[in-house]
Amino acid sequence: MDVSSIRSDFPIYSSEERDLVYFDNACQTFRPRQVIEAMNEYYELYPACGGRSVHRLATRVSIKLDEAREKVARFIGCDDPNCIIFTRGCTESLNMVAKGRLLKDGDHVLTTDMEHNSNHVPWVQVAMHQDIRHRIVGTPPSGIFDMDRFRDALDDVALVSMVHTNNVTGTTIPAGEIVKEAHDRGALVCLDGAQSTPHQRIDVKELDVDMFAFSSHKMLGPSGMGILYAKMDILERMEPLIGGGGGVGLTTYDRVEFLPPPERFESGLMNYSGVIGTAAAVDYLTRVGMEGVQEHERRLNDIVTRGLKDLPGISILPPADPALRSGIFSFNLQGMTSHDIAMIIDEMAKVLIRSGMHCVHPYFVSRGIDGCARASFYLYNTEEEAHRFVEAVKELSSVFSS
Ligand code: ALA
Repeated sequence: MDVSSIRSDFPIYSSEERDLVYFDNACQTFRPRQVIEAMNEYYELYPACGGRSVHRLATRVSIKLDEAREKVARFIGCDDPNCIIFTRGCTESLNMVAKGRLLKDGDHVLTTDMEHNSNHVPWVQVAMHQDIRHRIVGTPPSGIFDMDRFRDALDDVALVSMVHTNNVTGTTIPAGEIVKEAHDRGALVCLDGAQSTPHQRIDVKELDVDMFAFSSHKMLGPSGMGILYAKMDILERMEPLIGGGGGVGLTTYDRVEFLPPPERFESGLMNYSGVIGTAAAVDYLTRVGMEGVQEHERRLNDIVTRGLKDLPGISILPPADPALRSGIFSFNLQGMTSHDIAMIIDEMAKVLIRSGMHCVHPYFVSRGIDGCARASFYLYNTEEEAHRFVEAVKELSSVFSS
């Protein structure tokens, strides 16, 4: 992977902020000019509505929409583009699953204890209003998913909904094995792929996963865009979260017939430039190659972990092995809050990281931790930046940490 050529595609690296170290990629990534140009092209050349009007501009939008659906489907190994639903983000995608009436009274849903609020809050809501039980399988202190605990927790479970790669420690659950075990016990599986899709090759067919949700803004695409993949037979029995124009056939005053998927889930005017930008992001990542992205992030995580693991007062959120943490390095420094770490390191060294509980409150509260500082890497980050981060944390620790 040619990182310096990749960096030349990102306008921020030619701006006056070119010397900052951006390690907040698990929150949101930068966008290459290819994505920005594709989105601008929509607004400049065919700023019309897709799937409704029949004039030439609208037809161009509809064609772009179809192309985008095909590209996204290919990117995650899905054969049928109609199984790809464009949403406002991974949160909306997961809400669609939770609130899509796939479960019946008495069913149990199983999540992990490391879910982002986007795969936690909807299930708590559903359990409040329906006779559905939300159960949680715990992660051992090692930080590594325990298949035995999972197997023991599968009784009565109708749906397993789990974070594929979590945004706090960066560990990835053994999705293939989980899907197989769940299917053997008659349960469906939904994966929150917000932190896996940007960083590794995803093949929903190979995984045989039933539903898979992710966001565009964590993989070089626009914000306010997400995707839900689901097998067609599931989409056909899932209730749309939103109803309105574009998602239905001829309506009468008392009758509504939804169109087949994907349209029935995409009522209302869509974020066309967002869809087009997402396709451009997928093109970009496909060109670079996901294996290269994954390997590059591991290398950076290795440099950072080796550079900081023995620093007095540092605690790295487990597992210790960087190869198990994808592009995420989460830590605390004794005597400092995570927000102090993030603010000072920005002021001192122009290193941008995230701090706090990262929308995974139950994980921190149950472990009695206030939060953590988190560095997260992506394809445009360099080894030199990783070393700069290490030096900045060392300096911070020597000046402020007790
Ligand atoms: N889930 C995003 C993060 O972890 C917002 O930063």
